[in-house]
Amino acid sequence: MPAERDDFHEPIGTDPEDLIDEVPSAIQIVESEDLEDAVRASQGRPLPSALPVLPLRDMVTYPDTLTPLAVGQERSIKLVNDVLSGERTLVMVASRDPSLDEPGPGDLYDVGVAGVVARMLKVPDGSVRILVQGTERVRLGEFIAEEPYLVARIEEVPDRIEESQELEALTRNVQRTFSEIIEQIPYLPEELQLAVTNIEDPSALCHLIAGALRISTGEKQRLLEEVDVGKRLRSLSEILARELEVIQLGTKIQSQVQSEIEKGQREYYLREQLKAIQDELGEGDERQAEINELRERIEEAGLPEHARKQADRELSRLEKLPPAAAEYGVIRTYLEWLTELPWSAESDDNLDIEHAREVLDADHYDLEQIKERILEYLAVRKLKPDSPGPILCFVGPPGVGKTSLGRSIGRALGREFERISVGGVRDESEIRGHRRTYIGAMPGTIIRALRDAGTRNPVFMIDEIDKMGTDFRGDPASAMLEVLDPSQNDSFRDHYLDLSFDLSDVMFITTANMLEPIPGPLRDRVEVIQLSGYTLDEKLHIAKRYLVPRQIEANGLKGSQIEFADPGIRAIIEEYTREAGVRNLEREIGTVCRKIAREIAGSKGKGKRARISAKRARELLGRRKYFAEARRRTREPGVATGLAWTPTGGEVLFVEATAMPGSGKLTITGQLGDVMRESAQAALSYVRGHLAELAPDRPDDWFANNDVHVHVPAGAVPKDGPSAGVAMAVALSSLVSGKRVDSDVAMTGEITLTGQVLPVGGVKEKSLAAQRAGIKRVIAPARNEGDVDEIPEHELGELEFVFAEQIGDALETALR
Ligand SMILES: Nc1ncnc2c1ncn2[C@@H]1O[C@H](COP(=O)(O)OP(=O)(O)OP(=O)(O)O)[C@@H](O)[C@H]1O
Ligand SMILES: [Mg+2]
Repeated sequence: MPAERDDFHEPIGTDPEDLIDEVPSAIQIVESEDLEDAVRASQGRPLPSALPVLPLRDMVTYPDTLTPLAVGQERSIKLVNDVLSGERTLVMVASRDPSLDEPGPGDLYDVGVAGVVARMLKVPDGSVRILVQGTERVRLGEFIAEEPYLVARIEEVPDRIEESQELEALTRNVQRTFSEIIEQIPYLPEELQLAVTNIEDPSALCHLIAGALRISTGEKQRLLEEVDVGKRLRSLSEILARELEVIQLGTKIQSQVQSEIEKGQREYYLREQLKAIQDELGEGDERQAEINELRERIEEAGLPEHARKQADRELSRLEKLPPAAAEYGVIRTYLEWLTELPWSAESDDNLDIEHAREVLDADHYDLEQIKERILEYLAVRKLKPDSPGPILCFVGPPGVGKTSLGRSIGRALGREFERISVGGVRDESEIRGHRRTYIGAMPGTIIRALRDAGTRNPVFMIDEIDKMGTDFRGDPASAMLEVLDPSQNDSFRDHYLDLSFDLSDVMFITTANMLEPIPGPLRDRVEVIQLSGYTLDEKLHIAKRYLVPRQIEANGLKGSQIEFADPGIRAIIEEYTREAGVRNLEREIGTVCRKIAREIAGSKGKGKRARISAKRARELLGRRKYFAEARRRTREPGVATGLAWTPTGGEVLFVEATAMPGSGKLTITGQLGDVMRESAQAALSYVRGHLAELAPDRPDDWFANNDVHVHVPAGAVPKDGPSAGVAMAVALSSLVSGKRVDSDVAMTGEITLTGQVLPVGGVKEKSLAAQRAGIKRVIAPARNEGDVDEIPEHELGELEFVFAEQIGDALETALR
């Protein structure tokens, strides 16, 4: 049971005046006689042999000090009353156990201090306050009464003191240390400073200091009991040193805490100021405005339930953050992304087939097969609106209109059109985004494009899916698969959004230059549509109907100012471009228009309409870029015109063979693959075996005394594939026979050692390339005749085909 505090005797101040000051007005001063006189009188007297004992809780008093006490316990009040009516003297002794309410004789320390009650006040609650002037230290002897209060025999215990230099030094040390302590401790009054420096008696000094310190009762008691002043000073100086250290440590901690608090307060203060300034400037509570705006946007974004939940969660997190927090920006950006996505915005499909047909025709020449396919798609959608659309894949050389077809499909359907390129993408997160924990994280390219599209059902073109790579950063192809596959793309998950987005209404169109490099699983899911490149005639049409009008307009000209004649366009096609598509053609036409624009702008007054003839085109475009090379190259025997297939369409190449005196070695150079090297070996063996027929004039051992060098000058593209055997055999035959190869003839085909001509691939592309190079006849393997038949008549133009079973057939056509 906790003791009532007032039951005991506690100090209520160090200065007797304090006592008076603290007394509330309700307290009446009962005895106003001159108590000081009584004290003075009692001090002169010798101590009686026995005195009433006043137990002290948790405190020790010292001789020669004034101690104020609050006395509440009944037996103690009685004691005080009795003492006051007699000699006014009592003994104050500390109790060993502060929790005891009425300590008995055994519970008290043996040494206490005798004192004279100098003053007493009665408090209305019945307790009294007394002020006791401590006199001498006494030891308690036998207790002669315990009722109504303790009375014990006493014996004075005087100090033992030996003057010495050490004592002097200790005294000064104690004085100095205590001064320092006073400076640092607020509860010690400044006056103590003066008192301490003025006391010369070491014993009194000890008493004064020990009484003022807040140290444990045990320690205080030990200081009281120490009779040897030297020893007491030493103990005190140790205690003081320790206290000082504790105080200094405390001060250090305090100042750290203080500076932390000050920093926080400073920030708070600055922030408040900022707010005030913003208010003043009319930007008040921008942050709240921002949050409100975000809330509105979330409201309007038409989010599906799962996204809405996420958005609300993030918004409430945002509200709790200060705008300066890094997290704040991250969340705000995230919410912006979330609300900008077309979760529900959708365009209505225009399913009018007539209209679609018109749009497609207006944008593109020919390409019948593709236009048909698109119309079929529309028809199916009309009949069964929720059928999953096909994923088209346009495969073909650059500039044949893959991208622009996609655009016009979008236009025909009335859908938005978005295009991304995944060429060179090796990192899966390009497609799927980075998790939000990364700095600067963003959604992947799919989600970004959808945001740009602004509807959830655009025509979405993914270019160059044949050029995606794979490395340690993951497999973009499998992410792509997830995007395209109708069975999983209704819940496409972007790492950044961390929410599923429904892609099932997007119409995907992919494009590629080559079919082979498209990853297998992707290839399985797309519907391949081949675009193979245009013939000269087709290019002419495309130029007249689309490219020329477009470029005239783009360069700020009018139809009345410029006109392209057919021969002019033809000259541009043949002499300045060599490509499967029409991109460079468009560029060259653009150059012509630009130059004319320059002329018109530079001349004053109205010039007459510029007419672009072949001659004018050459003047404007400068040195021709492409020659009909075949004619020039085949002027010497030993050079044959071959045809190769490359990803950018077909290409014409020249096989050169020369001989020099030697020992029958074969050297092969040029950018050739292994297969082509083998073709060269086979061709050489064939020609060696038929030397007598091919070149009757040559000696039989001609090959033994000559080295042969076969060279295929490098184009940009490494050539491989078994299709140059015929050209090599023809070149070698031309070399040994000395007959030139017809410059109008190009050839493709593989040979066996016995001279059989084997079929090859890419006949159509090769034919187009031959045509572009101005070739008139193509020698092709007889077994490719079917492929040639499939090429529409108009695409072949004036090109003739000679089908060879045997290398002999080829030689007959090629050599002259
Ligand atoms: N049949 C055509 N009719 C009209 N214009 C065409 C036709 N084919 C191509 N073009 C025009 O040629 C230009 C190049 O086409 P586009 O950019 O679509 O090529 P691409 O096949 O996507 O090439 P790449 O593989 O390099 O991306 C465009 O301006 C396009 O309008
Ligand atoms: Mg393109």
